Amino acid sequence: MIQETVTVIVPTYQEFDSLPSLIEAIEKVRNESIPNLEVLIVDDDSKDGTEQLIANLQEDWVTLMIRTEDRGLSPAVIAGLETANSKFVAVMDADGSHPASAIPDMIAALNEGADFAVGSRYIKGGTTEDGWGFLRWLNSKIATIMARPFTKVLDPMSGFLALKKSTFENAHELNPVGYKIGLELIVKCKCKIVTEVPIHFSTRQLGESKLTLAVQWQYLQHVIRLLRFTHPALVSFCTFACVGLSGAGVYVLLNFVTSKMFASDAISVGIAAWLAMTWNFIWDRRYAFWNSHNRSIICQYFGFVVICAIPLLANYFITLHFAKSNSIPMAALFGAGIGSAIGIVFNFLMTRLLVFGK
Ligand code: GDD
Ligand code: MN
Repeated sequence: MIQETVTVIVPTYQEFDSLPSLIEAIEKVRNESIPNLEVLIVDDDSKDGTEQLIANLQEDWVTLMIRTEDRGLSPAVIAGLETANSKFVAVMDADGSHPASAIPDMIAALNEGADFAVGSRYIKGGTTEDGWGFLRWLNSKIATIMARPFTKVLDPMSGFLALKKSTFENAHELNPVGYKIGLELIVKCKCKIVTEVPIHFSTRQLGESKLTLAVQWQYLQHVIRLLRFTHPALVSFCTFACVGLSGAGVYVLLNFVTSKMFASDAISVGIAAWLAMTWNFIWDRRYAFWNSHNRSIICQYFGFVVICAIPLLANYFITLHFAKSNSIPMAALFGAGIGSAIGIVFNFLMTRLLVFGK
């Protein structure tokens, strides 16, 4: 018997058909192992009879919370986690994919010192019901690999999880987007010990899955956001390097155009260099230094120009030098290559410190 209080949060959107058997399964756990268990259903205004269904139940341990704004699985889960008042909180799907019978083991794992418990398909003893199409399987695999930099958990995509309410309260900058709330919590609550409890993951019996292409796009954004949280300098530098590479390409192309417009190499190369630098500024400010928007863009632009001037001048004169014996785009390629090699680390460190710093 587990005597502590536990709230099981169930996010729902149009799960009227699945709820009765889910509540029955949870009630069994309540009667057999966790007497102080409550259920909090967080419904995004499904208007499918869920409200009436819960009202008719008349069970004081089952509560319904209806949200009318900001629809989505992760925000619904966060809202539930914020509302729950128990010592432990768990989250599970409504559609029967997650076996309620695993909840006691998940809570026991927390009692034994884990920061986080996951109902896992991929740990020894866990299984997935046949009938997952190849595409869904592949999808899940790729998503799991992309989560590797953040956690060694074998099933980080699982939406079946449990943690202490106090762990949740320590979360830094929760940014609930998309589906992968478990991954978000493991990273942002800085959970070190994650225990995976094997489950059999069933295919939903009733209703429809809400996993769409948009959800996958959100996941990609989510991974980038998590990387920015865990490895800010590295992500910043890699983005800066990519922008630099694109800027070099833009510079070569621009030279192609400006060399046809202006008779003087000094002018055409100069204009191309200036435009390419502005291109870099725009994307660096937006993506490489995503946190730097609190200062005036004009001041930042001038700072950027001053710092980049040294490698840029090198680039400019090298291009002009090679232009004597090569075509202009070819000379621009040499110029941009050498200029970038000189500039990349210097420009990054200096702009990070002086232009885009907090
Ligand atoms: N409140 C709310 N709002 N609930 C939602 C929303 C929403 O916008 N979208 C989905 N849900 C609820 C569903 O009603 C269900 O209870 C649960 O979230 C999972 O939704 P499904 O549509 O069944 O998701 P799935 O089967 O594709 O995804 C499952 O597998 C993933 C791992 O492969 C879920 O278990 C995920 O949590 C899990 O990460
Ligand atoms: Mn499902």
